[in-house]
Amino acid sequence: MSTTEKFLVGITADWGDRYESVLGPALREVFDPVEGLEYETTPEYADLVATPEIADRYDAILVLMYKFDKETLDRTKRLKCLARWGVGYDRIDVDAATDNDIFVALTPTTLKRTVSEGALSLLLTLSKNIFALDRNVRAGDWRTGIEADGVLVRDRVLGCIGVGNIGSELVRLAKAIDFGRAIAYDPFCSADRAAEIGVELVDLDTLMKESDFISLHAPLTDQTKNIINERTLALMKPSAFLINTARGPLVDEDALYQALKSRRIAGAALDVLCQEPPPKDHPFFELDNVILTPHWIPMTEENVEGNSREVCTNIVSVFKGEAPPFLANPKVAQKPSMLAKIKR
Ligand code: GLV
Repeated sequence: MSTTEKFLVGITADWGDRYESVLGPALREVFDPVEGLEYETTPEYADLVATPEIADRYDAILVLMYKFDKETLDRTKRLKCLARWGVGYDRIDVDAATDNDIFVALTPTTLKRTVSEGALSLLLTLSKNIFALDRNVRAGDWRTGIEADGVLVRDRVLGCIGVGNIGSELVRLAKAIDFGRAIAYDPFCSADRAAEIGVELVDLDTLMKESDFISLHAPLTDQTKNIINERTLALMKPSAFLINTARGPLVDEDALYQALKSRRIAGAALDVLCQEPPPKDHPFFELDNVILTPHWIPMTEENVEGNSREVCTNIVSVFKGEAPPFLANPKVAQKPSMLAKIKR
């Protein structure tokens, strides 16, 4: 593109009321001083699915949840970057983005700490049965009808499914509070990287059988969908807990409901569900051994600020003709056609 053409950024309309509180300061700080870069909120897309007509009005789109499928991406020419506020990219067809010379940029820098700390908070809350104790006190039960059923995490086994940015940070935190062993199932982690993190790579069944706490940190793909299912849940220790701060469909919710209801496993904490928000009669609501939070674990003050600045900085890199540092499709940065598309 020539340096005189304006670079237009679309901010997906699903930010709604949170546009100002979450993005406002970063937009002013990072975008406003850049001459030649303009931004606006995109029109709303029905069912949160982007259309080619709207997507290709922009050079870059700052994406919250909207879906960008192959059909849309194959019909774009101008679009150079889908910049996600976050690290999940299951609603973007990444291969189609690569084929069409579009970066899929992510914001792991503060998110890895905020999500791993959130997962650890849920883990510790489960280990001490804190929600049940709170409910009892409010109901007027002071130490009645309960056993000393909290457990220490010291010397326990943490199992991570996925040990990338977030999983490896959780392992680091777990070691600091004396977990005995950290194991991981992650087909993409090399032996050298595992040694650096201090985690033992194992197969999925070993992880399910040997862990006291299982925390999910994998992207949602055809391979990981329902990785927690009737068969894998049956391998868990009856005393073990499951924590999901990644994506709801990693878990077969019917199977998890049965495992929790029958006390086949001790408990679960879920920040993500298959349907968000869940239907009012979701079966999990009748269980007392599951903690539910509204996909909100990443929303620390620091993360709101850090993510918002990082997503804007990613877009400014593209404006300047550079690849953003953290991409879901790093190969696209090697394509001469991509480099030609962003050259100014
Ligand atoms: C959070 O859900 C993310 O996509 O990073």
